[in-house]
Amino acid sequence: MRTFHNILVTGGAGFIGSNFIRYVFTKTSFAGRMVNFDKLTYAGNPHSLADIASAYGERYHFVRGDIAESTQVAAALRDHEVDAIIHFAAESHVDRSIHGPGDFIRTNILGTFTLLQAARELWGDRKDVLFHHVSTDEVYGSLGDTGKFLETTAYDPRSPYSASKASSDHLVQAWHHTYGLPITMSNCSNNYGPYHFPEKLIPLMINNLLTGKTLPVYGDGKNVRDWLYVEDHANAIWAIVTKGSIGETYNVGGENEWQNIQLLEVLIETVARLAGRNLADLRNLITYVKDRPGHDRRYAINCHKLKTELGWAPSVTFEQGIEKTVQWYLDNQAWVAQVTSGDYRKWVDANYARR
Ligand code: NAD
Ligand code: DAU
Repeated sequence: MRTFHNILVTGGAGFIGSNFIRYVFTKTSFAGRMVNFDKLTYAGNPHSLADIASAYGERYHFVRGDIAESTQVAAALRDHEVDAIIHFAAESHVDRSIHGPGDFIRTNILGTFTLLQAARELWGDRKDVLFHHVSTDEVYGSLGDTGKFLETTAYDPRSPYSASKASSDHLVQAWHHTYGLPITMSNCSNNYGPYHFPEKLIPLMINNLLTGKTLPVYGDGKNVRDWLYVEDHANAIWAIVTKGSIGETYNVGGENEWQNIQLLEVLIETVARLAGRNLADLRNLITYVKDRPGHDRRYAINCHKLKTELGWAPSVTFEQGIEKTVQWYLDNQAWVAQVTSGDYRKWVDANYARR
């Protein structure tokens, strides 16, 4: 089992990164320090880790920085004597990548390149270090009615987002093969859970259900996604980082496929029950809208390698995960209001100095 002293997490103020940091501090034996290096874009919310910042003092440190700025990255790695990088930071929303791909190219490709170079410069030929790259199943393209993505499936990205992630995956592999950088990679299916920015399907729909807004279903609503509770993604990454073979990629998924419209029915039923709302009123909010351009039809992950080689298994069933998630949004309407308000973005800029 690999151990580390000082881990730098990029994008730790985002959805999965913040859940990952909380998971490592509260549910593993990690005894070192975590540096959260995050630009605090619209998707980065320092409040998501307020509990960790106050509970773990010096062991948790936040740096506002941009992964595409080499001097900022190099300073953070050097100042904190980092021996592992877990790279979550990305522009992550497919719809935004369609309307404005530039930020995706800069952060996801140039940012990953900048981090890889900084890691090489700091670590040289050291083998007691690790660069873990967090990626997505979208790099494999779109499936028909059958089959699942394997680690060996050929890359076939189809949106600006997935093309930028595929590019970053290739860079990480190339830095391993060419320069001997110790790396691991994970490609995961759709996550859901607490602290998910309310622009993605599940938090958007829960929030709209709670506030009585329409539920925009793209196309025929029959696109399929494979959903995994975010803490199970966090524990998969921890298993890979501590026990995975260097140079290897591991697919992570929930083996839990849902058509969007079927998933929406589960959300409607859960919100009606937990929030005491009328089912028919909630169903009336469903509105079919124009499809997403290039909308991938189906994703499904085969995570046999992760299960058999590293003994990973999801700990939360879909029913439990959805129940916890809806309850979290019910209890945290203030978080949703806060992270979507312009005043909050102004507050972030005033209180978190850019390096
Ligand atoms: P997110 O959008 O919620 O968070 C991204 C974080 O990165 C934010 O805190 C943001 O401020 C930060 N960031 C953006 N640009 C940056 C930059 N230039 N420098 C430093 N920080 C920057 O994303 P997420 O959903 O938590 O996804 C995290 C990672 O996991 C991404 O790499 C994504 O591709 C991957 N992934 C996501 C999912 C999913 O379902 N959300 C599934 C598989 C893989
Ligand atoms: O598969 C992993 C990927 O999952 C991650 O790499 C991405 O970062 C993450 O955003 C997610 O991408 P998707 O495009 O699958 O997620 P999204 O929540 O945007 O959409 C899920 C499905 O719901 C998709 O088929 C589009 C549909 N949808 C989405 C929104 C926001 C709707 O029908 N209506 C909506 O309003």
